[in-house]
Amino acid sequence: MYNSTDKIIIFDTTLRDGEQSPGATLNIDEKLVIAKQLARLGVDIIEAGFAFASPGDFAAVSKIAQTVGTEDGPIICSLARARHQDIKAAAEAIKGAAKGRIHTFIATSDIHLQYKLKKTRSEVVAVAEEMVAYAKTFTDDIEFSPEDAGRSDPEFLYEVLEKVINAGATTVNIPDTVGYTTPSEFGALIKGIKENVPNIDKAIISVHGHDDLGLAVANFLEAVKNGARQLECTINGIGERAGNAALEELVMGLHVRRQYFNPFLGRPANSLEPLTNIDTRQLYKTSRLVSSLTGMLVQPNKAIVGANAFAHESGIHQDGVLKNKLTYEIMDAQLIGLTQNQIVLGKHSGRNAVRTRLKELGYELTETDLNKAFVRFKEVADKKKEITDWDLEALVNDEIQQA
Ligand code: KIV
Ligand code: ZN
Repeated sequence: MYNSTDKIIIFDTTLRDGEQSPGATLNIDEKLVIAKQLARLGVDIIEAGFAFASPGDFAAVSKIAQTVGTEDGPIICSLARARHQDIKAAAEAIKGAAKGRIHTFIATSDIHLQYKLKKTRSEVVAVAEEMVAYAKTFTDDIEFSPEDAGRSDPEFLYEVLEKVINAGATTVNIPDTVGYTTPSEFGALIKGIKENVPNIDKAIISVHGHDDLGLAVANFLEAVKNGARQLECTINGIGERAGNAALEELVMGLHVRRQYFNPFLGRPANSLEPLTNIDTRQLYKTSRLVSSLTGMLVQPNKAIVGANAFAHESGIHQDGVLKNKLTYEIMDAQLIGLTQNQIVLGKHSGRNAVRTRLKELGYELTETDLNKAFVRFKEVADKKKEITDWDLEALVNDEIQQA
């Protein structure tokens, strides 16, 4: 039965996996500021850190749990390896939250078993089961991740997942730890889990993925089509190596194309109900905040939040957008919290864009004056990357005075 409250759960790991980006270390005050903004953004779960990793991480998770983890706020989660001391620290750190989650993990790929863990498959299954049951003694909300699931034997994954769900895991997260899978492979992996893990209906299927091949967001969208209902992501896609799946890209992908995704969620195809709880108008502000506090710059051509994401430079595009935005924009800039799209004046700009900007600046030129100004504009634009309002006013004033 279709239930309009069934949404895709957004699990933000900016403060845990995101902070694992080289050079992106945040202090406790900065983490708290970001956590508050993530709550305003409407994320369902904040992975606030890895409590056992350091006293600073423990303090940050604990502070966020007490301050942001209110009854109507997000679930606060701490990561923990499948070890007693990690799980105990995680449980202690999330204690102050109204809703707390422990996220425990152990690797399942043969590469990790052989070289990193030096354990057999049956030893890994036993540890996973035992540690999930142990975590369950602290809270009901337990997430389990088979690390490197993307390179694990699916049959072994099915076995591990069935056992951890029986031990009490309420979310099973499938990480493409090294960003190796392709969208169709990742989708098939989720489909296989849905079809072959007998008790899978007792848990939510989550996905987590890295962007080593630039495929993380595409993989997640394919996972949603095959049954994933929680997405683990970071603001601006920051994270270990090439980063994690970018929250803003996933959210806007699901929003702009919601009529495409609706049927996969059992919704009527034409429903305009949002697919997530995210207040998209907070996206740009959150991106800027994370960028300035982590010092990780956002590339100008980054989807959704890059400086050029809503900017139009070529004359043909500018003319189209000025006539009707739908010609070259698939979403309104206001949706992500920007005030308007940007017409960038440069050597590719056309007369219509120059006339419109001049009008905004208070210059109503005759066709003859506009023609003269436009010739001059092209000359200047050939020498400069971008023509500012100041340049424009200067060249118009020159033309008008010479006339
Ligand atoms: O990439 C990964 O596998 C992780 C796990 C801890 C979920 O970050
Ligand atoms: Zn990760």
